[in-house]
Amino acid sequence: MAGHILVVDDEKLIRWSLRERLTADGYLVSEAADGAAARGLAESEAFDLALLDLRLPDTDGLTLFGELHALQPDMPVIMITAFSSVEGAVEAIKRGAADYLTKPFNMDELAICVDKAIRTQALQNRVSSEVDEKKARFGLSNIVGETAEVLRLRDLIGRVAQSETTSVLLLGESGTGKDMVARALHYESARVDKPFVDITCTALPESLLESELFGYEKGAFTDAKKRKKGLFEVANEGTVFLDEIGDMATSLQSKLLRVLDERSFRRVGGTTDIAVDVRVIAATNRDLDEAIRQGRFREDLYYRLSTVPIVVPPLRERRDDIPVLAEHFLRVYNAEFHREFRGLTPGALRRIRDYEWPGNVRELRNAIERAVLLGSGDELGLDEIVLGRSSLRSTRASNESVARLPKQGCDLGEVEKTLIAQALARTGGNRTQAADLLGLSRDQIRYKIAKHGLDA
Ligand SMILES: Nc1ncnc2c1ncn2[C@@H]1O[C@H](COP(=O)(O)OP(=O)(O)OP(=O)(O)O)[C@@H](O)[C@H]1O
Ligand SMILES: [Mg+2]
Repeated sequence: MAGHILVVDDEKLIRWSLRERLTADGYLVSEAADGAAARGLAESEAFDLALLDLRLPDTDGLTLFGELHALQPDMPVIMITAFSSVEGAVEAIKRGAADYLTKPFNMDELAICVDKAIRTQALQNRVSSEVDEKKARFGLSNIVGETAEVLRLRDLIGRVAQSETTSVLLLGESGTGKDMVARALHYESARVDKPFVDITCTALPESLLESELFGYEKGAFTDAKKRKKGLFEVANEGTVFLDEIGDMATSLQSKLLRVLDERSFRRVGGTTDIAVDVRVIAATNRDLDEAIRQGRFREDLYYRLSTVPIVVPPLRERRDDIPVLAEHFLRVYNAEFHREFRGLTPGALRRIRDYEWPGNVRELRNAIERAVLLGSGDELGLDEIVLGRSSLRSTRASNESVARLPKQGCDLGEVEKTLIAQALARTGGNRTQAADLLGLSRDQIRYKIAKHGLDA
């Protein structure tokens, strides 16, 4: 593996022999005879590795190591030392040097040592760029919203993420973003490079869920042909996300409580305790108080889990986020489906803002996805935004404020005709906008205009 190496040694002959060997191995080599020269080079160029003599004319190697390390924290440093001063090298290792070699050293040994240090660093760089990538994909910045509720939520997640062992209970209706919050908690924490393991407690029957969570020993039951690790073991040092915890069987709830209390568990059929270090995040869209009253959920587990309860509010309680989220999903799906919708028509915006969103953000996301996929023109209108069953009811001014049935009755057809005529007048004859105002599709208004002879 090639790279750029800084050689710091006051002995010319040693620098020369190092350069000979390292260039032959394909490295680019820069030389410094003292601390000042080494600092100068490290300030202006990035190196993949430094070979640093512990004894230098103008500074001691340990001090210089500290300075180089501060300048280029990701650059591995191999200390070179006389046999008599190994303590200095050991001290450098404690402070983060990659390795040390004692003089006189064998060139092959040196080459192996250099190669190993560079490879190890490359691996670390890769891990940390993967971590950055995951953070970007799952971290806090993905939680879209500008209302006070969401600001508070993001702030809370940021703080709770730091306290890495605290259990978290996520409460909120379906589709509010609990999964997302669980991931953000993991990827914003120091556990970020360890596993995030999630399981939906309703997905499996009780006994399977148990062996899934805790693993089993060979022979624990008929099909247990060999030992299997459970999720708690796999997730060691990471996070376990138990979704739909409200539906977990009470016998498993007790076992979970034990993991939380004692930080250890037993495999199914096992006799030894296995210690684990995991953060448990649980979520439910159920009313746990009710479940506790009915004896379906253990109160002690509830208290154990809810050290930090995080409530993810329903979308209808943060309506100002609806247009913000709609725009976010519009961008996402524009990109995905290669479309270029500029936005939503005012009528469509009004409708989504007033709608109740029983399916919360998930429903909004689906509505926008469908609209972008099937829509035409450059804005998404009421035709494209299809909402749940009773979409019109909540989005329009109520019928009462529009019209009151007169005592003597009225001609509904005439009322319809008048309203359509008014809508057309207001929009300068633009049928799409008129349809939008009335909560009709373009096809519907076209039909009604013809029916009432308004197109004459
Ligand atoms: N604040 C948000 N910003 C961006 N996307 C969001 C936000 N909240 C939720 N979503 C998206 O909405 C969808 C539903 O969210 P999620 O799966 O986290 O909900 P949930 O609360 O876990 O639902 P359930 O209770 O049904 O499991 C996901 O696609 C998620 O990415
Ligand atoms: Mg979920």
